[in-house]
Amino acid sequence: MSTTRKPTLAIIIGSIRPERFGPTAARWFAAEAERHGAFEVDLIDLAEYQLPMELAGNDPEAALPAEVARLGKRLAKADAFVLVTPVYNRSYPASLKTAIDWFYGEWALRPVSFLSYGGVTGGLTSVEHRRGVFPEFASVTVKNFISLADFWKVFDHDGRPVNSEGLRIPAAAVLDELAWWAPMLREARANRPYPALDFQLAVAEEEPADLERTAVSA
Ligand SMILES: Cc1cc2nc3c(=O)[nH]c(=O)nc-3n(C[C@H](O)[C@H](O)[C@H](O)COP(=O)(O)O)c2cc1C
Repeated sequence: MSTTRKPTLAIIIGSIRPERFGPTAARWFAAEAERHGAFEVDLIDLAEYQLPMELAGNDPEAALPAEVARLGKRLAKADAFVLVTPVYNRSYPASLKTAIDWFYGEWALRPVSFLSYGGVTGGLTSVEHRRGVFPEFASVTVKNFISLADFWKVFDHDGRPVNSEGLRIPAAAVLDELAWWAPMLREARANRPYPALDFQLAVAEEEPADLERTAVSA
């Protein structure tokens, strides 16, 4: 596996409803990530994928639905994730949970951070709920994340932060921390078998590795 290329940061827009705010926050953060410079940035919008709510059955040989496979190829290329979601009823949207549950090896042994938004809590409860999920994949949820309380006051009507410099501080903290983890875990995924995985790691298709990409469905 090449370790010379920049790590890929997948920024995932997790809400899919019409007129959502998610893309505004995600586009801002993607621009910050480009500016930071440590990553190749891939902005993934779950609204562009028709993921079935009905998950796979128990046949590990069964083909994945085309949309799941299409998203899986993109996730497999990622070396780090930032999950952009609102808080829905104190947790995170079902659209993101569905995406999480379709995959295993694509999340594994990668660092994960969050950009959450909501009312007074800024979506903190939705972040904490996700922190309880990712140990299942031996993913690392990092210390820093971005929380936008009363998010409608944080961005103007043109989708720009009201206080760009101020918002850059938590963005840089997230990006710096992910930039520490991502190359290290990429190297570890390639070279150091992890003792507690009961599924195969997913790696980008173009990268020859002894670990083949697979989306485990059971
Ligand atoms: C189903 C649903 C549940 C919500 N629950 C909360 C909540 O518990 N706390 C909160 O502050 N805002 C809540 N909101 C308000 C959302 O934070 C707000 O509508 C936001 O724009 C949703 O993100 P989106 O536009 O990307 O879908 C909820 C919105 C929806 C649609």
